[in-house]
Parts: sequence; C-alpha cells; structure tokens
Amino acid sequence: MTISEEVQKRRTFAIISHPDAGKTTLTETLLLFGNLIRSAGTVKGKKTGKFATSDWMEIEKQRGISVTSSVMNFPYNGLQVNILDTPGHEDFSEDTYRTLTAVDSVVMIIDATKGIEAQTKKLFKVCRMRGIPIFTFINKLDREGREPFELLEEIEEVLDIETYPMNWPVGMGKRFQGIFDRNGNQFVKYSSEDKETFVPYEELDQPEFDDLKKTEEYQTASDEVSLLDEAGDQFSMDKVLKGELTPVFFGSALAPFGVQTFFDTFIEMAPPPAPRKTTESVVQPDNPDFSGFIFKIQANMNPQHRDRVAFLRVCSGKFERNLSVKLARTGKTINLSQSQQFVASARDNIEEAYAGDIIGIYDPNVYRIGDTLVEGKELFEYDELPQFPPELYKRVTAKNVMKSKQFKKGIEQLVQEGAIQLFKKYKTESYIVGAVGDLQFDVFKYRMQNEYNSDILLESIGERVPRWIGDEKVKESLFDERNMLVEDREGNPVVLFKNEFSLNWFKDQHPEVDLIDLYEVN
Ligand code: G4P
Repeated sequence: MTISEEVQKRRTFAIISHPDAGKTTLTETLLLFGNLIRSAGTVKGKKTGKFATSDWMEIEKQRGISVTSSVMNFPYNGLQVNILDTPGHEDFSEDTYRTLTAVDSVVMIIDATKGIEAQTKKLFKVCRMRGIPIFTFINKLDREGREPFELLEEIEEVLDIETYPMNWPVGMGKRFQGIFDRNGNQFVKYSSEDKETFVPYEELDQPEFDDLKKTEEYQTASDEVSLLDEAGDQFSMDKVLKGELTPVFFGSALAPFGVQTFFDTFIEMAPPPAPRKTTESVVQPDNPDFSGFIFKIQANMNPQHRDRVAFLRVCSGKFERNLSVKLARTGKTINLSQSQQFVASARDNIEEAYAGDIIGIYDPNVYRIGDTLVEGKELFEYDELPQFPPELYKRVTAKNVMKSKQFKKGIEQLVQEGAIQLFKKYKTESYIVGAVGDLQFDVFKYRMQNEYNSDILLESIGERVPRWIGDEKVKESLFDERNMLVEDREGNPVVLFKNEFSLNWFKDQHPEVDLIDLYEVN
C-alpha cells in the first residue's frame, strides 16, 4: 500500500467530555467493536481499581487515576482507528489540552440529563480555536433527560456552533422507543432485550409497527423530524470540516444503543490526517519523508528504569524501526530504535506508522514538548504548541535552602519540559508555579523529589485570572497580593488577578493599562 493510501485510512480522534458524561463507557464500547476487549468494563474498572495505563507511575497508584492520555488503536471497517484518551477529573492538565493538537477530529459527549458542563466547554474552546471538526454524542437517552431541541439550542448558544441532528430520539428514559436515523433513512427500534432493531423507513408501514406508531412519543418525534427536514439547517460537510457545524447523535453508551450507527457514520465522515503547517511551509501527510512532533512527555513509565517516553504524532512519511531522524531544534541526528504503540496497558513495539498514528519513543532526556523530528535534509519545525494559561497557582520554595542548586535545576528542567509553568514575583527570585489542573502540582512535587532530590513546599495562592501587560512601562504601585504582579519565563509582566471581578474592577479603574488575554489571541 502506498503512503497516501495508508494516510487515507487513518482516523485519529479524541473523546472530550465532562467527568461522568460517559467517556469511559463509550470508549469501551468502541473497543468492543474493535475487538480489543472482550467485555465492557475491562478498561477502567473503577470499582476494581484496575486502570488502563495506571501502573506506570507511583503517583498513579496512590491516586488511583491514569495520569497520561493513552492511545488506543485498532482496525475497523478497513480503516485504522486511533483514539487518544483525554484525562478528565482531577487529572485534568495541560496534557489534556495538548492531546487536542495531535488529533484530526473530536467526539464531544454530552450527558442528556445535564447539558453542557464546565470541562466540556473548556475543551471545546480549544477545539474551536484550532478549527478541529467536532462530532457530538448526546448520551444517556435511557434516562429522563432534557428535551432534544433544548439540548441543541444550548449547544448552539453556549458553544457558538451550528448543530445538525443526524438522528432523533423517540422518547427518553422509560418511554424511550428508539431513534429516527436521518442519515441512514431507518428507524432504530429499542427494546431492553434486543437492544437495536433496524427498520428501513418504507417497512414502517407493516402492521407490526402500528402500536409503536400510535404512541405519543413516536408521533411527537415524527412531527419534529418533519420540522427538521423542512425548516432545520442544511447539512454542510464543508462546515463540519471547518469545525463550524457539529453533527449530533443521540444514544446511550451503556445500553449500548445508537453507538454502532454513530461510530460507522462518524468514522466515515471524520477527516483523515490533513496537511500541517510548519514555520516554513505546509507538509503533506503523504510526503515521503517522515516528520512528526512531540506533544507529550511521560516520565517514569517504568520506575525501575526511570525512562521517559515522548509521544509523537506522525505528520508525514513512513516510520520504521531504527529510522534515523533529526531533531529540528538542535539539528542532532537520532536513531529511533525503541518505539511503541499504546494499546490500553500493553506497550507493543511497532514496525511502521504513518501520518495520524501516535508512537511512543524512548527519550534519553533530549526532547521537549513541541519538538519536531524530521527525516529529510530540510530542517523545519511544526507550528508551536499553544500554551494554555494556568488557572491554579502555588508559591514554591525549597524545604532545604542548602539544596538550592538542585531546586533550580529541577524547576528549570520540568518547566522546559512543559510539566508546569513558571512565574516569578516581579523583579524578585520568588517562584510561583501555575497549572491547568491540580494533578500537575502533585506530579511536579513528586518528580522534584524523586528526580532532583529536592523537597519542596507548595503554598496555594488559589485560582487566578492571568493577564499579560502589553505596556512598555509597568506601574508596580497598582498591584498588590490580591492582584499580583509577576513575570513569566521570558520576563514579560503578568498580573494574576484574584478573580474575574477584580479584573473587571481594575479595568474600570485603569483603562489605560493594556491587559492581554493570551487565551483569546492564541
Ligand atoms: P466518564 O468516563 O466520562 O467519567 O464516565 P463513565 O463512562 O465512567 O460514566 C459515568 C457513569 O455514567 C457510570 O456510572 C456509567 O455507568 C454511567 N453511564 C454511562 N453511559 C450511560 C448511559 O448511556 N446510560 C446510563 N443510564 N448511564 C450511563 P457509575 O455508576 O458512576 O459508574 P459504574 O460504577 O457504573 O462504572
């Protein structure tokens, strides 16, 4: 098979959701389709304490969570599926965001009983910023949830994206009868015994469906579908690919109901790897020279060996074992002798990989997040990974002042690696670290101690709203502990506002200060 044919087969996506919306359940069902697991509940048996990837790091065992975004891959309907897990809950971190730079599309799960929740909104914002196609699965139809129209309206209003229902539910909870599959022109009948029965629209005339058709739920849904057909938005693949319209599927990950039709349609519509921008030009995914970028580095995957694994998204060419590449940042030649693909807890050595695939490569402490590896003579770098302004901040000091050398070295390296973000109180040596999620602090503390022999104290200064100052001159007297003036790694002035209220109050009082929201410009 040619490189181009291999690329066309790749479907690389992440599933995003708020905790408890059903990401694990849906992922398990998809893995069942891919024959990767034999029964649902084996990937993350919450109650048994068995986690997919969790024996990699001591801290994971302690907290009983999976620190990393793992990668699952399997062949399906002639395609090659790569699912990147995005950690949620308290293990939410910058890695979660960065994972979204390595995918070609995203599945957003929404709990029908709750609608859009905080974490979904955050992750969605990043997808939107990057123009990634977003497919929506509205889950838990087997429970009494919100009205379908209301849910669509919420998505459109809160997330500012057009919706197109690919199917339409008939009732919910105990009254749930099935869905109109608008895409497949069929009615999918639900029953607790058979789960799904597929009835082409023309067969609905058969007398056996008379009872169903008489129900109030069926009649309401049927009217609603007619309304959607006549007055609803037009489907536009072009808009889907630009991330401006989200195809919406209703179903239940647990039953499972509607998952197969969702997945078959999604996998067909989702785009294969696209050309990627570099600092110089644009690289086609079927370019014969191998290239890719590192979006995550995992330390201590094997505590005995202290090894580090860098997760690389292949962007072009063909990866083979022992491939010789150059690290674009330094021009250094590296032989990729040890590499793995990640399937749940197994770490298999891989023979070849193409654009869209994710490989783990052994990191002898040379890589940084965002690094580009290239095979050809021309050195280039993929567009820088965006930095995500932290929300949580802590003051950090060394417990033992005599060990300040280790302390500084550890911080410097971990910051460089992207494990945490560093600030200093303005014009002082007093360190403040910032993170997107609490887990980053735990990992930071653990690694400072274990890798740099530096015991640290972390003292919370709470959630903060960061704004960079765009002015040449900074008037230090305007700031205090509440609205704290700090500098970022490059020495740029930043204000850590206590909250949105303080920020707005400050803006009113000092309209002359140019405050920049990095999140908006990125
Ligand atoms: P997450 O990974 O997004 O955090 O969610 P997860 O799949 O773990 O699902 C959260 C809870 O919601 C689980 O129940 C799960 O069984 C339930 N759930 C997922 N999909 C559906 C669905 O389609 N219908 C219904 N009714 N429930 C669903 P739990 O009791 O918290 O966990 P468990 O002990 O059953 O695993």
